[in-house]
Amino acid sequence: MSATVIDGKAFAATVREKVAIHVARLKEEHGITPGLAVVLVGEDPASQVYVRSKGKMTVEVGMNSYEHKLDIDTPEDVLLALIAKLNADPAVHGILVQLPLPKHLDEDLVINAIDPAKDVDGFHISNVGLLGTGQKSMVPCTPLGCLMMLRDHHGALSGMNAVVIGRSNIVGKPMAQLLLNDSCTVTIAHSRTKDLPDVVRGADIVVAAVGRPEMVPGDWIKDGATVIDVGINRIDAPEKGEGKTRLVGDVHYESCAAVAGAITPVPGGVGPMTIACLLANTVTACCRANNLAEPEGLTA
Ligand code: GUN
Repeated sequence: MSATVIDGKAFAATVREKVAIHVARLKEEHGITPGLAVVLVGEDPASQVYVRSKGKMTVEVGMNSYEHKLDIDTPEDVLLALIAKLNADPAVHGILVQLPLPKHLDEDLVINAIDPAKDVDGFHISNVGLLGTGQKSMVPCTPLGCLMMLRDHHGALSGMNAVVIGRSNIVGKPMAQLLLNDSCTVTIAHSRTKDLPDVVRGADIVVAAVGRPEMVPGDWIKDGATVIDVGINRIDAPEKGEGKTRLVGDVHYESCAAVAGAITPVPGGVGPMTIACLLANTVTACCRANNLAEPEGLTA
């Protein structure tokens, strides 16, 4: 079987379009412009790229973008005071603190200082608990993007065997919760899992989120399974010339695509969906804050 390629780039564009339509309606009918505040502490180059990209796309869909760039040695109380100010600001509907934070800052303390209603990352302990109990919550962006693509491809996911490889708080655990809420039979596999190849061979849906380049080969994949590759790894590419690199996922694309029914590419799969879902979460948070109907198809 040769897999259908799930085009995350095109899908993300349709999500942003839906967000833009809803933002225009909020402005016209209610005089409300959703606002997203992004806080970056320090100058990590990858984080700077993400933050710039988030700001640009926020403005493109018609929302207000507020960027707060703080020095790498910003004291914790200064960061907490900024979060308190953003929590109290009615023009700010979503708050994202870019991770990782510098070592002297307590990540859990900082994340849990964000108003859960404005926690567009879905990392606050209240949102984690709400998702875990199947209640309305803010859902982490990357797993939400994966879920949207899976629902779009399959329709209902009920009864499917799903294996999530990776147990991070940002992707693996919330992904498993979302699949469980959609009535999948879910296994979370990780570095200590015994017989990982056999576990993966039982899956109708494989979500790989471990951060190890090309670790899942095609002979682990069941014929016709759907493979969602969350990994974004930069590896050397001497075939492109000296010092050149390329991006690969956590699955070995060619061998997996040869047996899978559907697969997300890297780049152009899960990656573009993450920012699109951040924008979706911001418009959802804005609607909830104003007791207005939420946009359809943009939440879990
Ligand atoms: N750093 C890498 N991914 C993320 C994310 O999804 N949210 C935040 N806040 N920081 C990140």
